[in-house]
Amino acid sequence: MRALIRRAARLSGSAQPPGDKSISHRALIFSALASGTCAIDNLSPGEDVRSTAACLRALGVSIEAHGNGALVRGVGLGGLRTPAAVLDCGNSGTTMRLLAGVVAGAGVGGVLDGDESLRGRPMKRVLGPLRQMGAKCEGTRSAKGDEMAPLRFETGVGLTGVRHDLTVASAQVKTCLLLAGLFAEGETTVREPEVSRDHTERMLKAFGAPLTFWPDRAISIRSPAEPLRSPSSLTVPGDPSSAAFLLAAALVVPGGEVTLTGVDVNPTRIGFLRVLQRMGAQIELLPEADRAGDPVATLKARGGGQLTGTEITPGEVPSLLDEVPILAVVASQAKGRTVIRGAQELRVKESDRLAKVAAGLAAMGVPVQELPDGLIIDGPVPLQGARIDAARDHRIAMSFSVAGLCAAGDTEILGAEWADISYPGFYTLLSGLTDGAVTTIP
Ligand code: S3P
Repeated sequence: MRALIRRAARLSGSAQPPGDKSISHRALIFSALASGTCAIDNLSPGEDVRSTAACLRALGVSIEAHGNGALVRGVGLGGLRTPAAVLDCGNSGTTMRLLAGVVAGAGVGGVLDGDESLRGRPMKRVLGPLRQMGAKCEGTRSAKGDEMAPLRFETGVGLTGVRHDLTVASAQVKTCLLLAGLFAEGETTVREPEVSRDHTERMLKAFGAPLTFWPDRAISIRSPAEPLRSPSSLTVPGDPSSAAFLLAAALVVPGGEVTLTGVDVNPTRIGFLRVLQRMGAQIELLPEADRAGDPVATLKARGGGQLTGTEITPGEVPSLLDEVPILAVVASQAKGRTVIRGAQELRVKESDRLAKVAAGLAAMGVPVQELPDGLIIDGPVPLQGARIDAARDHRIAMSFSVAGLCAAGDTEILGAEWADISYPGFYTLLSGLTDGAVTTIP
């Protein structure tokens, strides 16, 4: 599918972003491993979360569609079965890394595989630590010495808890190891160099998992004496990473305004809001009731004011990891220089996001320097419409669609359907908010 975007004369309206992708994966997996039935409401409708549900079904968990979510009948830590076929994680790194911990921990064996993009992503970061716990698993060796999908796990192997001092802050790796630790003999400890999103810790604790939080940020887990207990119902808050595209759209279209309800504002996720506010953006947070243990708010953004460039430091990156592409687009409209450092992890996401953002912005006329770990962007620049390949990356597709809303001439996004990974309906919504500045062609 192609998306055609022209400069928007106006952008206004309200929306409720889809259920958070990270929380949705976890809600499905944790309730599958618990006892009882959990009705999950507002589950992310994206392809990635469908991949997790399909893999869990193949592991023997009953998951039925239920309202705008799912009904999960937990099988407990001992109830998973060896999958009859390869577990297809599609495009989803979160599915593969989290389920690697489950498959290794449960000792059910199996093969985890994914699409071409996922087969290119580093998996030694989970396989190495799992092997230290005793797992018998291997991936396909890459030329650079990493391991890639397909990942093979032997059946019937028990794990032993160890301490893991991670060198990269990664919520996927942390969660993989804490999940493996749920099944392991003794204590499993994970320490990250910086705090990554903490949905796993919050939710596992709420499910009754024995977690200990240490002053040095390490987290320990033991196999629970009693089964984990899922709540009978759980409502997933709206995805702040999806909200980021709409907020940015309101900021780059003159006079733009948008109101987004039900958005997760967990402090480990909203570094991009702090950065946008620092750049001078008018964004209001109106608190709503908590959902799934996370704070939630209505966000109101109003464009028109002059934004100024800023420096995004390595310490801030984990809290805005997925928002770097859209922040780079906003930076092109801000006065002065924006420097983003410490974002080298973006090179191993669904695409090399630093390279794709730099190339896309350059194609639209922005003076941008690509650094090994970041970007330097000088603004404000009147953007020129361009033809941008989404590179099979949902966040690249959506970031440059937003850029197209303030560009002269047409912007064409090739592979716009990749937005469905996290935000089905994104183009219809954007079209509605902009009186048709966005159209799609199958
Ligand atoms: C995620 C963690 C982040 C993020 C991804 C979702 C998660 O990845 O980029 O979109 O749900 O745990 P890393 O853990 O690789 O940093």
